Amino acid sequence: MGHNLLSNKKGIIFGALNEKSLAWKVAEKAVQEGAQIVLTNSPVALRMGDIAQLGERLNAPVIAADATSVEDLERLFTEAQTLFGSQIDFVLHSIGMSPNVRKGRSYDNLDYALMGKTFDVSAISFHKMLQVAKKQDAIAEGGSIVALSYIAAQRTFVGYGDMADAKSLLESITRNFGCLYGQEKGVRINTVSQSPTMTTAGSGVGGFDLFYHFADKISPLGNASAEECADYCVMMFSDYTRKVTMQNLFHDGGFSTTGMSVNAMQQYAKSFDVKEQ
Ligand SMILES: NC(=O)c1ccc[n+]([C@@H]2O[C@H](COP(=O)([O-])OP(=O)(O)OC[C@H]3O[C@@H](n4cnc5c(N)ncnc54)[C@H](O)[C@@H]3O)[C@@H](O)[C@H]2O)c1
Repeated sequence: MGHNLLSNKKGIIFGALNEKSLAWKVAEKAVQEGAQIVLTNSPVALRMGDIAQLGERLNAPVIAADATSVEDLERLFTEAQTLFGSQIDFVLHSIGMSPNVRKGRSYDNLDYALMGKTFDVSAISFHKMLQVAKKQDAIAEGGSIVALSYIAAQRTFVGYGDMADAKSLLESITRNFGCLYGQEKGVRINTVSQSPTMTTAGSGVGGFDLFYHFADKISPLGNASAEECADYCVMMFSDYTRKVTMQNLFHDGGFSTTGMSVNAMQQYAKSFDVKEQ
């Protein structure tokens, strides 16, 4: 049951690959809340993933676009506005990929050509879509744009490799573009920094299961699920967050501000046979 938080709103959702994807859950929730959406992903993801089924179920057109290609993005924003017959109210950037992480290259043995690819796909694509949208005046006054980030932008996490630097860049683009777009067009731009979540991209990080369980133990509220992430994104797209912009918003059950929790302490004591005083 929705609450019509997004009634009459039109949005583009980048990055739904399969039913585990964070973008998949956001797409479902946005439509449940009354939005009309266009789904997009790279041509290869359209061939390999299940996005066509999602599009059919949600009555959402699917448009192929490589988010690193300015030409593809220009076509996407033009076609989406034609389909909607109006400007766009919200956009989700849910895109991440590091060829260095995929190839198991450690942070002190990076391939720089691959690092450039990591940045282009995972962060610069956000700048490209914002620049294309602004040049086309594609986003309606008061529109809301959200990208998904991870706390590795602020703290080190073993195995996250150059994705950590990509997330820092993503959050920096959010601040810098948010300042311009807010002032000129009233458009807000934020990142939601999500808990570890079992998705295709997430599970690609070495030791992800441990990451996931560690965060779950530390966080007083436990890890935030993909469905809960979708709830938060919908709230960010809604009119209830009209003055929130240029923020990195932690959606992580309290992980980011916890030093040690009772759960984690008990786990640690068990693992190392330490007697609690
Ligand atoms: N899963 C987690 O633990 C977690 C935690 C915090 C943040 N995030 C972020 O959430 C976002 C979505 O990831 P996910 O976990 O849902 O995994 P996912 O694998 O389902 O989504 C990643 C998406 O990026 C798309 N993509 C890759 N290259 C692209 C390109 N050139 N053009 C267009 N799309 C491209 C993929 O096709 C895929 O749909 C990513 O930014 C990820 O870093 C994930």
